[in-house]
Amino acid sequence: MNFQSEIIKLLVKETKLDQKEIENLISIPPDPKLGDYAFPCFKLGKNPKEAAEGLKKKFKLPKFLSKVEVVGPYLNFFVKQEVITEETLSKVAKEKNDYGKQDIGKKQKVVFDFSSPNIAKPFGIGHLRSTVIGSCLYKVHNFLGYKSVGVNHLGDWGTQFGKLIVAFNKWGKEKELEKDPIKYLLKLYVKFHDEADKDDTFNEEARTAFKELEDGNKKYLELWESFKKLSLEEFKKIYKILEVEFDSYHGESFYNDKMDAVIKNLEKKKLTKTSEGALIVDLEKYKMTPILLEKSNGTTTYHTRDLAAAYYRIKEYKPIKLVYVVGSEQKLHFRQLFKVLELAGEDAGKFIHVDFGLFRFPEGKMSTRKGKVIFLEDVLDKAIKLAGEIIEKKNPDLKNKKEVAIQVGVGAIIFADLSNDRTRNIDFDWDRMLSFEGETGPYVQYTHARASSILRKAGKSSGKVNYSLLNQEEELAVIRLLYDFPAAIEKAAKDYKPHHIANHLITLSQAFNEFYHKCPVISERDEQMKARLLLVDSVRQVLENGLKLLGIKAPAEM
Ligand code: ARG
Repeated sequence: MNFQSEIIKLLVKETKLDQKEIENLISIPPDPKLGDYAFPCFKLGKNPKEAAEGLKKKFKLPKFLSKVEVVGPYLNFFVKQEVITEETLSKVAKEKNDYGKQDIGKKQKVVFDFSSPNIAKPFGIGHLRSTVIGSCLYKVHNFLGYKSVGVNHLGDWGTQFGKLIVAFNKWGKEKELEKDPIKYLLKLYVKFHDEADKDDTFNEEARTAFKELEDGNKKYLELWESFKKLSLEEFKKIYKILEVEFDSYHGESFYNDKMDAVIKNLEKKKLTKTSEGALIVDLEKYKMTPILLEKSNGTTTYHTRDLAAAYYRIKEYKPIKLVYVVGSEQKLHFRQLFKVLELAGEDAGKFIHVDFGLFRFPEGKMSTRKGKVIFLEDVLDKAIKLAGEIIEKKNPDLKNKKEVAIQVGVGAIIFADLSNDRTRNIDFDWDRMLSFEGETGPYVQYTHARASSILRKAGKSSGKVNYSLLNQEEELAVIRLLYDFPAAIEKAAKDYKPHHIANHLITLSQAFNEFYHKCPVISERDEQMKARLLLVDSVRQVLENGLKLLGIKAPAEM
């Protein structure tokens, strides 16, 4: 039973307000002592407190409510505790891995453009953030009944390939490239910039090389193919560790033959203009710099390819939303892009830039041009190694230590990312992130393992549960959080913010550990034990479901 929608139905009847309006007004009081739902009565008369009193008098209490009370200008609703307990725990037990799933998406498609690293360059920390946030939102939307489409918009086209082709032709060695492609290409890239800083003709050569590549120079295309193939092999290793998948790997180059039509369309709509030999869309009216569609030498840009990609996705998938999970430094790029799409007649509300801040490592800042980069694989390796050392200390007899170290190490990084509001910058702290206490991935995983271990020790329990025995304050707090889990998922989807789920798991873990300290689970009292075991199993299940949505494994032992 969905208490909130039941209450809304009753309010529609009593207030004659519109259902949508009530949905927007109704809220959950900050303190459960004030009730489970609160309805502000501002819209019901000049004096909202009097209106609340009047509404209270009229209100016929349905079976699932214990009382309604006027609190200031609000009418507050109290759901009977036994009803919440029984509804929630039996639902988790019945739905298991599906608890929290909903059908609000009605199979509508949502395209997520995420990860999108650049070929021939190291997989950056920003790309890690995009990968982890995007993959979580992808799963969350599927869980809520949408049909997610994951696109890896690989950076596999652009002037940087002109630079690499020039550099490889001057200094490149086939053998070195095969050995460690990304590191070698980075070396060439850095050398190119060193030389170009001294002598600008290098840049001119690179621009020409890219132009020839776009015009179909066979030798250059072959070289580009091999850069792309080798880079992708490296990236796929990372996706394998993170267990991330995509529905499409259409990168920027895929749109090479689709840009003409886009430009023609914009010209037809009289949106373009020539400026110093280049083709632009002027956005001065909207207080933005223009977007460059075609440079004066005829080559295309990142913007042009993004325009073509947007049209392709709209046609191919017919999505209700196109979501771009890309760092905040590209805010302007997306504002410009969305504006041009709007001017060309698209519904602007469809396009969403899910931006995020920086993930700062103690190892320092990156700069690809200077060759100063943190390799993601090193970061993952380090996390796995540190997790392994902790497990070795805490639980040396654990059977599948290696596997669990990967799950904990990788989980710690993902959780450190997703537990923060994505728009904030995060300072990465190895010790804090891997700690089994505090707001960390290992803490949630450890709580899950603890619940699993209690259940293992207790063995199977069956038969009818007496829900009224779960009446301790700590028990009620846990039940409330289990009950609120689906709402946390919904909120994460609505705001495109995974931290609503991560934070919910932290709060649930804390509540569970308090319960565990106060209330002995394994005891002589059969009935009590059965009820508490059901609670423990429900917590275990919800932690598992939540971690899965975040892309984190839930080992049964660690
Ligand atoms: N490859 C780009 C970068 O690393 C990110 C691409 C994001 N997606 C897009 N449709 N522009 O900066």
